[in-house]
Amino acid sequence: MVDVHCHILPGFDDGAATLKDALAMAKIAVSSGVTDLVVTPHFPGEAVSLQRLGKLVDRYKLLQQALHKEKIPLQLHLGAEILCLPETPLLAARKALPTIADTSYILTEFHFDVSAEYMNDMLHSLSSAGYTPVIAHPERYEAVQRTPRLAAYWFQRGYVLQLNKGSLLGYFGKRVQSTAIGLLEGGLVHMIATDAHSPERRTTNMRHLRSWLQNRCSEAYISLLLEENPARLIKGRKMVSVPESIEKIISAPIKFQFVALFLHCTHLAPPLGELAKIGTSEPIFD
Ligand SMILES: [Fe+2]
Repeated sequence: MVDVHCHILPGFDDGAATLKDALAMAKIAVSSGVTDLVVTPHFPGEAVSLQRLGKLVDRYKLLQQALHKEKIPLQLHLGAEILCLPETPLLAARKALPTIADTSYILTEFHFDVSAEYMNDMLHSLSSAGYTPVIAHPERYEAVQRTPRLAAYWFQRGYVLQLNKGSLLGYFGKRVQSTAIGLLEGGLVHMIATDAHSPERRTTNMRHLRSWLQNRCSEAYISLLLEENPARLIKGRKMVSVPESIEKIISAPIKFQFVALFLHCTHLAPPLGELAKIGTSEPIFD
């Protein structure tokens, strides 16, 4: 498996605090079947400086050397998680933002309460500058929880949608979990990653996620989400969507939860004016 979102770089953000923690996270990843991992420390807009980019590369090399020394068979790839702030479009236009494994894919995140309009403007700026946005944990954003069809709009525009392991397992509450399951059910997910932050909580262990998926989805769908698309991402190749043949692969329990999401969306649907800003009227979830 390939984990495309992980805060394993030691002493850089709120992820691994020390090299010891980072190595522990690497061992957990390997023992649960991960072969490749993208290091994606947080990068708020104002932090995109040559100094911070230099520090990113230095820490990355340090971790690579430590893995080699400890004989931990984990292939690292350089990346970052870009927090989209008002200055981000300017940085994008200058091509100053770090991407995933030197491809055009760029991992993006937002503050959880921003509007759909703000997110769309930011994503459009990145796309116009030649990047392909990879939207980290769309299920955690309030705008998507209120209006899941926003995710469908992003999907249609060719953006990549990456769910978090912890969202599906319920670590972030029922609302996030039901949104994540709805996106999975709707075939609006390209991949799932750990977004791990430590060896103790929000870890790099993929075993629980795989078990959870195996009780609900076909092996073909699981392979697409955990192996095929993440591997394509780090090679800069196009994503594969859920084909018709494996679309009906969600088991009964998950369908039950989808009904709950449907009812939830019906009650909390935003006014038509807001939907117009999202840019699509095609109903996906409601
Ligand atoms: Fe993250």
